[in-house]
Amino acid sequence: MAEYLIEMKDISKSFPLVQANDKVNFTVKKGEIHALVGENGAGKSTLMSILYGLYQPDEGDIFINGKKVIISDPNKAIENKIGMVHQHFMLVPPLTVVENVILGMEPRKNYFFVDLQKAAHDIKELSEQYDFKIYPWSKIEDISVGIQQRVEIIKVLYRGAEILILDEPTAVLTPQEVDELFKILKALKKQGKTIIFITHKLNEVMAVSDRVTIMRNGKVVGTKETKQTSTSEIATLMVGREVLLTIDKTEQQTGKIVLRLEKVNSLNQQRYAVLKDVTLSIKEGQILGIAGVEGNGQAELVEVINGLRPITSGNIFLYEQDITGFSPRKIRELNIGHIPEDRRKRGYIADYSVAENLVLGSHYKPPFAKGLFINFPEVNKLADRLINDYDIRPASKDNLLKSLSGGNQQKVIVARELYKKPILLIASQPTRGLDVGSIEFVHKQLLLERSLGKAILLISAELDEIMSLSDVIAVIYEGEIVEILENKNIDRSRLGFLMTGGGSPGKYNTKQDTLVG
Ligand SMILES: Nc1ncnc2c1ncn2[C@@H]1O[C@H](COP(=O)(O)OP(=O)(O)O)[C@@H](O)[C@H]1O
Ligand SMILES: [Mg+2]
Repeated sequence: MAEYLIEMKDISKSFPLVQANDKVNFTVKKGEIHALVGENGAGKSTLMSILYGLYQPDEGDIFINGKKVIISDPNKAIENKIGMVHQHFMLVPPLTVVENVILGMEPRKNYFFVDLQKAAHDIKELSEQYDFKIYPWSKIEDISVGIQQRVEIIKVLYRGAEILILDEPTAVLTPQEVDELFKILKALKKQGKTIIFITHKLNEVMAVSDRVTIMRNGKVVGTKETKQTSTSEIATLMVGREVLLTIDKTEQQTGKIVLRLEKVNSLNQQRYAVLKDVTLSIKEGQILGIAGVEGNGQAELVEVINGLRPITSGNIFLYEQDITGFSPRKIRELNIGHIPEDRRKRGYIADYSVAENLVLGSHYKPPFAKGLFINFPEVNKLADRLINDYDIRPASKDNLLKSLSGGNQQKVIVARELYKKPILLIASQPTRGLDVGSIEFVHKQLLLERSLGKAILLISAELDEIMSLSDVIAVIYEGEIVEILENKNIDRSRLGFLMTGGGSPGKYNTKQDTLVG
């Protein structure tokens, strides 16, 4: 038997503007979970698309069990028992799970029509075997993203895959769903399946993989036994320089209360309470982190502070001033910075230049406006300074924002929100989708603001981010702040428990902690 189940040798692949893979060597052992890591654009998806037959390499060979194979298309990949779950799911929302699973399968000999009942039965068996908790007759549009992903996995297993490629499966999941996915991956491994798992989150590499291959700029820069490496070694290989992973947070004196919410309530359009008696305050020099599973009122909380969502009762104060009911523009003029969660919708205008995006929101005011006109010399002066200060690449103010990488787009937003020296900064999912180098940058900026005495409201689905940056953690569940804790010796599992409703007085009407477990 060959040493490796899969061996990709000297694989190169160029696209018109970039060499995505450059003489890549990549091996996978049977039965292992192999993490493939690298920053955005490193070439991971391209390499896996070649293995799955979506692209042909310009040069190089693929061996399976020591035998050279040509994977001309995904059907050939399936013949070789290779299946892939893509970053963006390919399910059809109005169809059921079972319809989606059999969709596109080649009809077998002697079958005139697909036996849906039989397929449903098989899906149910697979679901039970791996604890997928999937009901074959649910419609895709009615199930959560986490479950949809499992349908994709079932689809691949149903086709007989022994090798599963998962392209950034955790990017779309909540922390709880990530834990469940990891259990599934381990169960698959136990059944002898081989898994290639793409991620750029290093704690995930450590948590599930047996080996890890690191890519940078289209090249493989290392393959390691996970047990024999560390997150800092992997990060250094990924980025090509040393990266600070552990956040060095110094003691910080706090000052006056900057933002205060007093029993704030808000309803959504269906008159359902989305914020319930939210009371919290943030001081100068303090980071208050909101921990919670997404969709528990975080977005609404930000909206009420920004004046974008009406509140039904309660008050919001900025220092001594009652700003309840202020318009969004009036609130912006009070100098609140906001790194928005949905950058594509609220953060920037993709078809505008870097310079224009840097003055977005201030373009109607001096010094950037002269009467009705934009004062270009002033805009350009500022853009050059910020591109330099925030290391925005490529360093040209005239590039359209859409041509920048995600990390650099986020730098543009961070620069714009911080150069005005806001008294309060709201950072919503500030590092979502960014790679380690850019995450480090954003974290440094937040801590810098803190050391300058700014108040910061941090909202993040990454529990690690909340725990490493916050001075105070407020746990939100179903629109309610269920607990506010000093961030000292906090037990991670306790936070998880509170985030999933374990401590909600509304839900259980009792204080006991014994309801779960
Ligand atoms: N179909 C394509 N056409 C042109 N360029 C592409 C295509 N797919 C990927 N690229 C480019 O190839 C490089 C590697 O991309 P990719 O393999 O998607 O990286 P990763 O998955 O590591 O983020 C990037 O610069 C990307 O823009
Ligand atoms: Mg990719």
